Amino acid sequence: MPLFSGRCLSTAKLVGKTALVTGCNTGIGKETVLDFYKRGAKVIMACRSLERAEEAKTDIETRCKDLPDTGKIVLVKCDLTSLKSVREFAQNVLDTEPQINILVNNAGVMMCPKSETEDGFEMQLGTNHLAHFLLTMLLLPRIRNSTPARIVTVSSKAHTRYGINFDDLNYKSRNYNAAEAYSQSKLANVLFSRELAAKLKEHNIEGINTYSLHPGVIKTELGRHLNETLFWGARQIIGFVLAPFIKSPELGAQTTIYCAVDEKCAKETGLYYSDCAVTSPAPKGLNDEYAKKLWEKSVELVKLGDFNPFTAADPGVKTV
Ligand SMILES: NC(=O)c1ccc[n+]([C@@H]2O[C@H](COP(=O)([O-])OP(=O)(O)OC[C@H]3O[C@@H](n4cnc5c(N)ncnc54)[C@H](OP(=O)(O)O)[C@@H]3O)[C@@H](O)[C@H]2O)c1
Repeated sequence: MPLFSGRCLSTAKLVGKTALVTGCNTGIGKETVLDFYKRGAKVIMACRSLERAEEAKTDIETRCKDLPDTGKIVLVKCDLTSLKSVREFAQNVLDTEPQINILVNNAGVMMCPKSETEDGFEMQLGTNHLAHFLLTMLLLPRIRNSTPARIVTVSSKAHTRYGINFDDLNYKSRNYNAAEAYSQSKLANVLFSRELAAKLKEHNIEGINTYSLHPGVIKTELGRHLNETLFWGARQIIGFVLAPFIKSPELGAQTTIYCAVDEKCAKETGLYYSDCAVTSPAPKGLNDEYAKKLWEKSVELVKLGDFNPFTAADPGVKTV
């Protein structure tokens, strides 16, 4: 455990607010849901396995059973390896949730063997960035009607190691490198959050702030592919070497929670955080040309077409 670890000290309540967290049946996402639930929020858990999500929900509710004023947890299936699933999920949420005040793009996959999403994207870019890009775009008309709202994207310090290869984003022609592909996807998270803030400003949209962050080195299931992509025993050896720096999932969720609820950063947008404080991302994470190029490429890859999330009307919930 590191000597210092940032903590969100805000006692802000989320009664009457709705938060949506992706990939939250375990790890940092689950701790984020627990915190929002304790603050009284309605929390939508967007998970690919409803069975695992149900287990997490039951655990959270059991742990909080004696606490006053807890919120409500709703499970909705969302598999980020499929744009169809993301679209169905977004439609489901738009049909049923009158507001979305907090969106946490948390789900992630790290250093998996070479593989593709249903839509032919490299697995890490597709899951960590493109699916979250599409989800955010589809929900934006509702988020615009739910201000003050915050959009938090969980990146990683791993974004500093490599760059984005715009000529071959999906490793169709270059040799696959699992660490490089993870880094590319996490740099995409930083650039997306930055460019989203810029585009909201360009469209004179006020009351939606964006944040990207590094959670620290956290003891979660994220290293599940290391033995396959590096060598047998890699996960255990890396865990041993990094032991003095490894934090619990509860501490790992603190910067996400800070960005999502803390009054201290309520006026900040487009910035990058670590240990509950603003910090500087890698120079490439500050490159506006890069950010714009990634945005355009993402619009094209997820087939956003003519849909303009900054001007499109909120379709409203479905009434039966
Ligand atoms: N742990 C760290 O040290 C660390 C450091 C820097 C950044 N991060 C970032 O923190 C975030 C959370 O990771 P974690 O450490 O909590 O890892 P984790 O324990 O492996 O949790 C990842 C979550 O993402 C979900 N997920 C993966 N692929 C998905 C998909 N296709 N559709 C929907 N959900 C999917 C997983 O669901 P399943 O259980 O169904 O697979 C799981 O709930 C990630 O973005 C990661 O890159 C973590």
